[in-house]
Amino acid sequence: MTTLDQTVADSTLTDPTPTNRTPTEAAATAAPAHGIPDPAVLVARRRPGHVLEGPFYTSPEIFALDIDAVYAKQWIFVATEPEIAEPGDYVTIDLGRYSVIVLRDDDGQVRALHNVCRHRGSRVLLEERGSVGNLVCGYHQWTYATDGRLLHAGEQPPEFDKACFGLRQVAVRTVGGLIFICLATSPPEDFDDVADRIEPYLAPHDLANTKVAAQVDLVEHGNWKLVMENNRECYHCEAGHPELTCTFFPTYGFALEDIPARLMPAHARYLKAGVDLARACDERGLPHAEIEELTDRSTGFRIQREPLDGAGESYTRDGKAACRKLLGDLDIPRLGRLSMHTQPNAWFHFQADHVVTFSVLPLAADRTLVRTTWHVHRDAVEGEDYDLDHLTEVWSRTNEQDGEFVARTQAGVSSPAFVPGPYSSSEYQVDALVTWYLQRLQEHLGR
Ligand code: FES
Ligand SMILES: [Fe+2]
Repeated sequence: MTTLDQTVADSTLTDPTPTNRTPTEAAATAAPAHGIPDPAVLVARRRPGHVLEGPFYTSPEIFALDIDAVYAKQWIFVATEPEIAEPGDYVTIDLGRYSVIVLRDDDGQVRALHNVCRHRGSRVLLEERGSVGNLVCGYHQWTYATDGRLLHAGEQPPEFDKACFGLRQVAVRTVGGLIFICLATSPPEDFDDVADRIEPYLAPHDLANTKVAAQVDLVEHGNWKLVMENNRECYHCEAGHPELTCTFFPTYGFALEDIPARLMPAHARYLKAGVDLARACDERGLPHAEIEELTDRSTGFRIQREPLDGAGESYTRDGKAACRKLLGDLDIPRLGRLSMHTQPNAWFHFQADHVVTFSVLPLAADRTLVRTTWHVHRDAVEGEDYDLDHLTEVWSRTNEQDGEFVARTQAGVSSPAFVPGPYSSSEYQVDALVTWYLQRLQEHLGR
């Protein structure tokens, strides 16, 4: 019996509707255990409205392609301004084989530099974060200023021109206190348009003048796309996130006609809270309308200010603010959640009392770093204005639960028996993410 026959025979035993299998499904399960089809073939045969085939989540070759086609080409959210508050403060960010230093230079500007010495290529900074006066390569002590200029290189001939050997710059943009980098030499130009449109939403929270109250790095055992896909729907929230759904309406993403009867009371509360929120926003000139442009552009994004359940103030068990000092000039805590996500790697929740940012950084085909950072007003005092456990409880628990869902899914899609299933209507943002991703692969592959 050939491999193909064996696979089809096996699947006939386990698939309840084998006669409904399309040629695509048959081909997917018929893929040999070693090697994968040409990525262009995988892209071309994706069934609209369906989950991607297994190799997209498991193949080291496609992981490398994702870094080249997505993470090295798009604007990637990597940190916030408060993470590098003072001149010389830095974080290092690994994206595939790249390492990038994101730092504040001596003039207070945010910079991004390739973490590759211009002498013989050593990593210059080895720590994940810290503060430096100059950047000194530990190998032969070439020394760079915080803006990347080479200041000192010992034993070079008189004609050596230091100006030619600064650390290579990486494109960097800040918007509303969020720092994005792009490794491409010609970054997507549409970021200007996106920045102009989201800035008025973010500005009232004055993120640049907050401080980091907590940061948690969670390594999830799944492909970065599974992490993002899991975040893009709330089909799983009602059963999976008891702490989150104290305040997060579990009807998120549902079309009205698809809301189950048991969730209609929550939907009624959502509608009422939405009316109150819109009024409070309009009185204060705070933009709140949804903008959703998730596909057909490089910098796909979604932003909206939406109500929270309970007291409607913050992501806590009762919905009350977790920090007494409000952000910026905001005068009331009950302003719901300003939520944004940007393709391909981030989501954000701005409340009146604190801001939570989430950055998704791929480590391997089956491992992903999820970095969660909680920000409170710069003058807020821990123990007086906020309690750290209370502030971080909901999203710490929710992240752990999501990490478990992602790991389970990674295990499942790694099975030769996996056949991509259909998305429900409430998973339309997952479909949009996958569609956007495939558009980027097509661009990269030139097809
Ligand atoms: S490799 Fe950095 S100083 Fe030599
Ligand atoms: Fe979740």
